[in-house]
Amino acid sequence: MKYIKKRLTIDKVVIDDIAKKFGTPTYCYSYTQLKKNINNFKKNFKSFSPLICFAIKSNTNLNLIREIQKFGLGADVVSMGELMMALKAGINPKKIVFSGVGKTSKEIDYAIDKKILLINAESKSEIKEIDRIARLKKKKVQIGIRLNPNTDAKTLSQISTGKKENKFGINEKTFLELISFCQNSKNINLECLSVHIGSQILDHKPYEKMLNVLDKIIDKTKHKFKFIDLGGGMGISYNDNSKKLNYQKYNSAIKKFLKKHPSKIIFEPGRSIVGDVGFLISRIIYIKENEKKDFIILDAAMNDLMRPALYGANHKTLPSIKRNQISKKIYEFVGPICESTDKFVSLKKFQKLKEKEIIVMCDVGAYGMSLSSNYNLRPKPVELLIKGSNIRIIKKRQKHTDLI
Ligand code: LLP
Repeated sequence: MKYIKKRLTIDKVVIDDIAKKFGTPTYCYSYTQLKKNINNFKKNFKSFSPLICFAIKSNTNLNLIREIQKFGLGADVVSMGELMMALKAGINPKKIVFSGVGKTSKEIDYAIDKKILLINAESKSEIKEIDRIARLKKKKVQIGIRLNPNTDAKTLSQISTGKKENKFGINEKTFLELISFCQNSKNINLECLSVHIGSQILDHKPYEKMLNVLDKIIDKTKHKFKFIDLGGGMGISYNDNSKKLNYQKYNSAIKKFLKKHPSKIIFEPGRSIVGDVGFLISRIIYIKENEKKDFIILDAAMNDLMRPALYGANHKTLPSIKRNQISKKIYEFVGPICESTDKFVSLKKFQKLKEKEIIVMCDVGAYGMSLSSNYNLRPKPVELLIKGSNIRIIKKRQKHTDLI
């Protein structure tokens, strides 16, 4: 995405033209960026060619997942809906892992029938339930156990998952007990040790710590794990000056770990694959002048993009046409929803804006549309995939009649 002759463009398409043709608010994805991210991810870990299972929760668009599938990626799913979507997108069941603390009997039943690669269990009760269902079906099911490594991912508390106070995974003591339970079961095959310590991680050190914990615990179990699932969590830079994750160091730490514990590595990346692929295009409805700041009231709102309201996330916000005049007042970009948290960002020295102009929020490809809702009975935006100069509708805009 860049300005060409002062007009913001994605690949070869001018943002203002998209707004004119498809209306606003609109989600757009860049195919070029998607391809680049997947190839970079593969390159970063190519020495041990991991199985890359795209975390469907980060973006659930069927057509986008189809494109991801074409690069050979598998899927990490956390519900029956996501599993059905991954299968519909053509992802090979032997490349699907199922995570989550609350899989229902119906979901476990469905996952067993679909012969997916692994059900990653997160509690003693869940393992017993998988065992019970597998026995009824007279099947042997491949499972993983998600360990809670009690490692601080040094990320936002709302998206940290690997500390002992989090609901995720199983503590070391229970983990060790469950190994013998699994070894004695005729219906369970314990193939995988899985972890996921959090999201938007920009420091490689928590990953190193997590690998040390795994190393020690595997030594204690003496169990041979065919797969080690390291989860996702690799962060992206939401603004130009934020730090970047050092993939080289993470890669070296894994290589060292593999020398001692040879196994197939699985990753479950979401954000690092689709985060910077997506843009949210919106139009200024009104500019409401106020004493200290002006409210830029957009036609996109917190129902379309929840991350700022939910986590205080900051998305780079740009005008579709660049001009030189700078506003003296602070601009507060908000949506029309009846909540004070329906606010995207406050910016100083932004270029002077006019009503009806177009504003773009960047890096919304992960947990943008997938976290959206119909709050205030607002129909969900259209989703477009841009490939060079080609624009394809990959999900239609909802209509009011779909909701009423
Ligand atoms: N695997 C598991 C088990 C997960 O729970 C998650 C994310 C991932 C993989 C993918 O993580 P990623 O590579 O995308 O960081 N809604 C929040 C993020 C929540 C992440 C939840 N779990 C946000 O918008 O920042």
